[in-house]
Amino acid sequence: MSQQSREQWGSRAGFLMAAIGSAIGLGNIWRFPAEAYKNGGGAFLLPYLVALLTAGLPLLILEYTIGRKFRKSPPAAFRQMSRPAQVIGWWQVAICFVIASYYAVIVAWAVRYAGFSFGKDWGKDPEKFFSGDFLHSAAEPGMPTTWVGGVFWPLLLVWVVVLAILALGVRRGIERANKIFIPALVLFFVVLVIRAVTLDGAAKGLDALFSPDWGALTSGSVWVAAYGQIFFSLSIGFGIMVTYASYLRRRSDLTGSALVAGFANSSFEILAGIGVFATLGFMAQANGVAVDKVVQDGVGLAFIAFPAVISQMPMGALFGILFFLSLAIAGITSLVSIVQVVISSVQDRTGMKRLPAVGVVGGLTAVVSLVFYPTDAGLSILDSVDHFINQYGIALAALVFLVVFGWFLRRLRPLQAHADETSAVKLGTWWRVCLAVITPVVLGWMMIDSLRTELDENYGGFSSGFLGVAGWGVAGGALLVGVLISLVPWKSPPKSDIDAEPEAGKEEVS
Ligand code: ALA
Repeated sequence: MSQQSREQWGSRAGFLMAAIGSAIGLGNIWRFPAEAYKNGGGAFLLPYLVALLTAGLPLLILEYTIGRKFRKSPPAAFRQMSRPAQVIGWWQVAICFVIASYYAVIVAWAVRYAGFSFGKDWGKDPEKFFSGDFLHSAAEPGMPTTWVGGVFWPLLLVWVVVLAILALGVRRGIERANKIFIPALVLFFVVLVIRAVTLDGAAKGLDALFSPDWGALTSGSVWVAAYGQIFFSLSIGFGIMVTYASYLRRRSDLTGSALVAGFANSSFEILAGIGVFATLGFMAQANGVAVDKVVQDGVGLAFIAFPAVISQMPMGALFGILFFLSLAIAGITSLVSIVQVVISSVQDRTGMKRLPAVGVVGGLTAVVSLVFYPTDAGLSILDSVDHFINQYGIALAALVFLVVFGWFLRRLRPLQAHADETSAVKLGTWWRVCLAVITPVVLGWMMIDSLRTELDENYGGFSSGFLGVAGWGVAGGALLVGVLISLVPWKSPPKSDIDAEPEAGKEEVS
C-alpha cells in the first residue's frame, strides 16, 4: 500500500479512544484484580506503578514513535531500520494471530452469558454449568472430538462484528466503533462499581484487596507479575501500538498521548479491582466465609464466581447483563486492534486492498478460531495456548525487540529525537535507560524465572502431555512462522514510499 494513500485517524481523540479501547480488555477486568490480590494486595500497587513508569509508558512511547515515523505495520517498519529485524515484526504478527483466535472465544462466552443472565440459567451450580452444560468440556485434555453449538454461534457473531468494523477501515470502522463503545463501557462500569461498593460486605472485599502485605515486595515473582500485567494490559510488545500509530498524522503529540492512554488504562484497571472485590466481599459475607474462599482468577472469576454472586444479589440479572456486556465490549475493542496488526502487515507486504485483506486474513483467523475452540477440547487448549503465548510469545518478543533495537542497532537516540520533535513532554536520558537497561533486565529475569518454574514444577500441568505439545508448539510455531515469512523475497515498495516524509501540513486524509 503506498504511503501516500495510507489511512489516517480523523482526530487525536479518535486515535486515543482506539488506543485506550485496545488497552482496556479482558486483562483489566479479570486479570488485574486477581494478580493484585495474589501478589501483596495493596502493596502490589507499588511494583505495578514502577512497572508502568519504567516499562509500560516508555515502551508505549517507543511503539508510537516507530509507528508514526515509518507509517507502517511492525514488519515493514522494523525492516526499514534493519532488514533482518523484520523477523521480530512477523513474529509479533503470528502472536497476534494466535491471541486473536482464542481472545474472540472468551468474548463469545461473555456474549452468551449476557443472555444467560436474564434467567440466571446457570442454576445452583455455576461451575458444573460452565464446563458441563455450556462448554461440554471433555474430562481429559486432548484433540477436539465434538462441536459445541452454544459456543460456535456466538463466536461466529463476534467474528462478523469484528470483521465488519475492520472492513469499514481505520476511521470509519475502528475509530467510530471505539467512540461508541468506550463511553458505553465506562458508563456501564461506573454503574456496576457504584452498585458493587454499596453491597453488604463490600468493605470486606476491598479490605482483602487493598490490605498491603509489604513482605511480598521482597519476592521476585511479585515484581515479575507486575511487569507481566502491565505488558498485557497496555497491549505493548505485540505490535498493536506500532500499527495504530502508523495511522497518526505527522505532527501528532506522542508522549502526551502515551501518558493519557497509559493512565486511562490503569485507572480503569483499579476501578475494575474495586468493583470485582467489592462484589466478592458481598458473596463472602452472604455465605459467612472468608474472602479468599470466593476468589478465583481469569475464567473462573467471570464465568463461575460472578454468576454465583449474580444469583444471590438483589437485581442480579441486571448486574449480570451489564457485567457481561462490559466484558464483551472491552474484549471486542481489544480484539479489533489485535486482528488489525495482522491485516495491516499483510497489506503493507502485498499491497492488497483493505477489503480483500480483511476477507482473507481476518477470515482465516476466524476460521482457525471457529475450528478449534467451540469444541469439547476448547477450554483446555485455550488455557494452555494463552499461558505459553503470553510467556514465550509477547514477553520474549519484547525482550528480543529491545535488545536488537536498543543494544545492537542503537536506534533509541534517533527515535527519541523524532518523538521530541512533536511532543510537548520531552524525553530525557531516563527514557533510554528504562528501555535499554531496566526493562530488558526485568524481562530477562522474567523469562528465566518462568522457564525454571515451567520445567521444574510443570506449573498448571501445562508442560507435558497434549497441553504441553499444543502450548509449546503454538509458541514455537509463532517464531518459526515469523522467520519463514521473512525469508520469502520481499517486493520492495517504491523508493518514495520508504524515504518520503510528507511535508508538515500536507498530510492527506483518505
Ligand atoms: N490489552 C488487552 C487486554 O487487557 C489485550 O485484554
